[in-house]
Amino acid sequence: MPATWHETARELHLHNGQVSLVLGLLDNGWLGQLHVGAPLDPGASHRHLGPVDFRGFSNRVDEPIGLVLPVPGVGDFRVPALVIESPDGSTVLDLVYVGHRVMAGKPAIEGLPSTYVEEASEATTVEIDLADGVAGLRATVTLTIFEDRPIIARSMRLTNTGTGRLVVRTSMSASVDLPSGPWELLAFSGAWARERHPHRAAILPGRRSVGSLRGATGHQQDPSLFLLRPGTDEVHGEGFALSLVYSGNFLGEVESGPRGSTRARIGLHPDGFAWTLEPGDTFTTPEAILAWSDAGVGGLSDALHALYRDRLARGTWRDRPRPVLLNSWEGVYFDFDHARLIEMARASADLGIELFVLDDGWFGERDTDTTSLGDWTVNRRKLSGGLAPLAAEIEGLGLSFGLWIEPEMVSARSRLFEAHPDWAIGVPGRPRTESRQQLVLDLSRPEVVDHLEAAIAEVLAGASISYVKWDMNRNITEPYAGALPPDRQGEFFHRYMLGTYELWRRLTTRFPAILWESCAGGGGRFDPGMLAYAPQAWTSDDTDAIERLAIQWGASHVYPLSMMGAHVSAVPNHQVGRVTPLATRAAVAFFGVFGYELDPRRLSELERAEIRAQVAFYQKHREVFQRGRFLRLRSPLGSDDAAWMVVSSDRTEAIVAHVRILERPVQPPDRLQLRGLDPLRTYRVERFPRADRPASSLVVARGGDELIGVGLALEPDDAGAGHQRGDFSARIWVLTAS
Ligand code: GLA
Repeated sequence: MPATWHETARELHLHNGQVSLVLGLLDNGWLGQLHVGAPLDPGASHRHLGPVDFRGFSNRVDEPIGLVLPVPGVGDFRVPALVIESPDGSTVLDLVYVGHRVMAGKPAIEGLPSTYVEEASEATTVEIDLADGVAGLRATVTLTIFEDRPIIARSMRLTNTGTGRLVVRTSMSASVDLPSGPWELLAFSGAWARERHPHRAAILPGRRSVGSLRGATGHQQDPSLFLLRPGTDEVHGEGFALSLVYSGNFLGEVESGPRGSTRARIGLHPDGFAWTLEPGDTFTTPEAILAWSDAGVGGLSDALHALYRDRLARGTWRDRPRPVLLNSWEGVYFDFDHARLIEMARASADLGIELFVLDDGWFGERDTDTTSLGDWTVNRRKLSGGLAPLAAEIEGLGLSFGLWIEPEMVSARSRLFEAHPDWAIGVPGRPRTESRQQLVLDLSRPEVVDHLEAAIAEVLAGASISYVKWDMNRNITEPYAGALPPDRQGEFFHRYMLGTYELWRRLTTRFPAILWESCAGGGGRFDPGMLAYAPQAWTSDDTDAIERLAIQWGASHVYPLSMMGAHVSAVPNHQVGRVTPLATRAAVAFFGVFGYELDPRRLSELERAEIRAQVAFYQKHREVFQRGRFLRLRSPLGSDDAAWMVVSSDRTEAIVAHVRILERPVQPPDRLQLRGLDPLRTYRVERFPRADRPASSLVVARGGDELIGVGLALEPDDAGAGHQRGDFSARIWVLTAS
């Protein structure tokens, strides 16, 4: 069993040869953290790594041993993981170890998304009970170590075992005290249309946090932190990832203490949060994922990609090849009718596209974004026959049909709002702030969830719908739960998420054959929580290829390509006005779940030929794009060029992309060192042919050892002859082991 209890040393060791977590019982009954990270010998005691007692604090010892569950007010003045207000108003806790249970497998977390196993042998779970008799609290920390992954999942269940009321003020999913030495923080931050840019910096004394108080994880910060030893690069060096399986308000924080300790914590954001536990009540936190690697940032990404793709995403479409889609949004926005959509679908079919997605504008009286959210009945003026004949006709053209919805929202101009104004979130007696002319429905109310389930289910059952894009285009203001008493308003944001997850659960369970894609104005709720319900997500509303380099580069630190929707759109680009070659737009979008978002009726004959070749190319290599190992080679951030690659699991096939962002005169000879290949094999290196070049002229053979150790020639390119010219130009190579 990868969980070993040493009775004499009173030490619990979770181990699998890839990561270790060692906990030790202190003399006062508290549970200390002795070690986390590098795999250690499970047969040996590691007691000496930490003191046997807590040591209290003094001017010399201000950072006592880390606890599994640090609490305030007892001599550890660093950030706590748990703050409970007792019936007497105090927040002091004396949490002593009561016992633990070890079990094969991994239990689900009721009501919340989480990673899972398919066989009990894939993981071992330890539940550790800590208790405070005075407060009447039991805290059960659940730790799951996966058999073949450098990963430990953690969550916590709180139970009021006393007779008075407890209020949970802070309840982190995970708190980790890192091994000694300096650490750097790599976080993924941005804004709408500029999501997930990586930012890395030393952790200075004090605290640095990322988080959200928006009611969604947000475009601004990803709920994942990477903690890296200085000097760690893509391939070398030690690092931890902490990632939260949640989609609402969150906090990820690191604290560097005066004596150089580093504590990281992640979980529900404590600001504005307060959860009441009456006697007998329980509260469960979301799950946090801890990954460790000594193979650099890339090692952390490998671990997260595999876990999230195979054991967080689920359902029919988890392992299935995802269809190449055409989304109507940037092509026609709200301006369509049945005939126009059919023309678009016909033109899409001619390009080889497999799925036609009707985006916003098909319901109520929705001709602009000022109206009709909440009225999920077809707009008869645009679609006189309804959705069923539209879907049937599109299927008749050889495409499947997909639809956009935004269930959590309501327009003030809608029948739903007229009927149920109290269902929109707001504080009674205060005006509601609109954003994109819309309000948010109070999904903390069960009757709202019931209504939405029925309304959306009716749409989905009424036509042949193979795919759904579930959007969420604004954040929550004036947070208030009309159905909760005043002293429980601190529960609102989390209850909103629980209601939203419940709606996702019901609809994805009722319609298991549908391919679900999550979206929030692009990447505004692009997080591990959503991935548990929808195996793919719209990465960003920014479809410009050059902007997408940075966005997809950043997102790829945490998320697999099978999650990242990436579309080729028209130029000048609608978000930034940039003009890039069609080949470059595809070269970037290939590295994701590929599609188009333009009006296919407005393409030249040459463009149509090029797109046909792009679609066929992606279809041919779909398996490696969607399920291969993704490796970052050259960062686009602050650089004139960028490169990345995917490799099949058996290393016989790889696809490499290089984008020249800005052309410079007199380029020096340049070689791109590849990774993940088999050094002992010879690869046929072939440029993805352009419409204007014969494919046969672009092939050479190179050893894997040379491609790794010396590199693939870029300038001049010996599998393409000639220099890469021009701003925003891209090249793609296919490597096949012979
Ligand atoms: C959001 C989405 C877009 C599109 C529009 C429709 O912005 O991110 O892809 O669906 O809404 O209103």
